[in-house]
Amino acid sequence: MAIEYTFSIIKPDATRRNLTGKINAVIEEAGLRVVAQKRARLTREQAEGFYAVHKERSFFGELVDFMVSGPVVLQVLEGENAVAKYREVMGATNPANADEGTIRKLFAESIEANSVHGSDSLENAAIEIAYFFAQTDIVG
Ligand code: RTP
Ligand code: MG
Repeated sequence: MAIEYTFSIIKPDATRRNLTGKINAVIEEAGLRVVAQKRARLTREQAEGFYAVHKERSFFGELVDFMVSGPVVLQVLEGENAVAKYREVMGATNPANADEGTIRKLFAESIEANSVHGSDSLENAAIEIAYFFAQTDIVG
């Protein structure tokens, strides 16, 4: 298996409840390494651009409102098979359907306030990492 990089966001519902460390512990226990990390307050323009793929969806406006409602933590994660691995560690979008031990089962409040984002493909991971980080920010 190849070493991959994936992009993660600890969302505003989680930063509000001071869960950054607990979420990072789950990430690290799964064998993923946090190789870049910064706390940020997304602008509406950044959030709309990041979730542009969902702009026709009924929940888009609410999703953008939520993502700008508080600080987020932007991360690059490194590991074997990191993209698929982190999707497993996150759990299903709706926490009601998430497996035991996943971040969303442990911490998410709702289908929207679901604590974390993770890239859904290697291609999108590269695009999302470049949206927020320079190569020099990533220290493996
Ligand atoms: P993410 O992109 O945040 O990692 O989540 P995901 O792949 O599991 O889910 P996706 O379908 O890409 O949806 C993106 C985010 O939009 C919010 N959402 N709200 N109200 C709703 O029905 C609904 N559905 C999705 C969630 O915050 C979801 O993570
Ligand atoms: Mg997604």
